Amino acid sequence: MIAVMGATGRTGKKVVEGLLRAGEKVRAIGRSEASLANLARAGAEVRVGDSSDAGFLTEAFRGASAAYTLLPYDPRAAGYRAQQARMGEAVTTAIRESGVGHVVALSSVGADRGVGTGPIDSMHDQEVRLRKLTGVNVLALRPGSFFENFFDVLPVIRHQGLNADVVEPGRPVPMVGTRDIADAAVAALRARDWKGFVVRELLGPRDLTYDEATRILGERIGQPELPYVRLPPDEMAGALVQGGFSEDMARLYVELAEALNEGRVRSVEGRTPANTTPTRFEDFADELARAYAAM
Ligand SMILES: NC(=O)c1ccc[n+]([C@@H]2O[C@H](COP(=O)([O-])OP(=O)(O)OC[C@H]3O[C@@H](n4cnc5c(N)ncnc54)[C@H](OP(=O)(O)O)[C@@H]3O)[C@@H](O)[C@H]2O)c1
Repeated sequence: MIAVMGATGRTGKKVVEGLLRAGEKVRAIGRSEASLANLARAGAEVRVGDSSDAGFLTEAFRGASAAYTLLPYDPRAAGYRAQQARMGEAVTTAIRESGVGHVVALSSVGADRGVGTGPIDSMHDQEVRLRKLTGVNVLALRPGSFFENFFDVLPVIRHQGLNADVVEPGRPVPMVGTRDIADAAVAALRARDWKGFVVRELLGPRDLTYDEATRILGERIGQPELPYVRLPPDEMAGALVQGGFSEDMARLYVELAEALNEGRVRSVEGRTPANTTPTRFEDFADELARAYAAM
């Protein structure tokens, strides 16, 4: 049996579905029985609770041969790093106390640094915690920026007719679909063929610039001239707060964009066949176009 955190989220849901398709027994972990109901109907055992609670999580991992772990992203969090640390401690305690032997932990490109990378600093902190565990094999997956982040841009396109961010328009960024992250996680959770603490990047099929991604998305939604506009950091942070981000998260978001611009967040492995994943942004853009049309 394989336990999956964040089972209603962007990667976790696909991990649960992939494992069930492969005939594995799955324990899907989330906060709400209602949101987990579809996965229960598909055959998953569900566990409902708060993943900051080490006791709950320990019981949810107990008896599992492997677990998929992540720290959910919360743009409204005030004191994000401390909140992530609380959940990170709970995850680490649960791994140790449950005795689960293999863990696939969602991390991020840039987690090598630990300073000046916005929300990714928390991924670094979590890798440090997981590295200290003994008697468990941990695979830290370090994906690039999710294609799915572009769902958040759709309202901006609808209301302002542009895409805007702090990242330089021509800066190449590794971007990857969560489908490919889930596929890599499912394969590893089933194979359990690594020892100790191992890191693996997942970089998508090629690096993309914001200019290029905006052009591909624009073409798909019938706006081939859709512009990408680079905003000053303060202006971007203000827009994020207006859109519901906490002040802290807006600051961290902008810090990450500047870290991309300045090369602080970048692949340390370099692109290889093993970290190059198949789904192209062009393939994914249809999902964005459908969501845009439905707005
Ligand atoms: N976005 C990117 O470009 C990117 C790139 C690299 C790495 N990452 C990392 O990816 C991680 C997020 O992964 P994801 O997108 O798959 O997850 P997610 O969609 O942010 O969250 C997963 C699920 O966690 C559940 N959840 C939230 N708080 C919870 C709590 N206290 N207890 C139990 N469940 C809770 C939520 O489900 P319910 O609401 O149904 O409870 C949510 O659906 C973050 O650590 C982020 O740093 C992101």
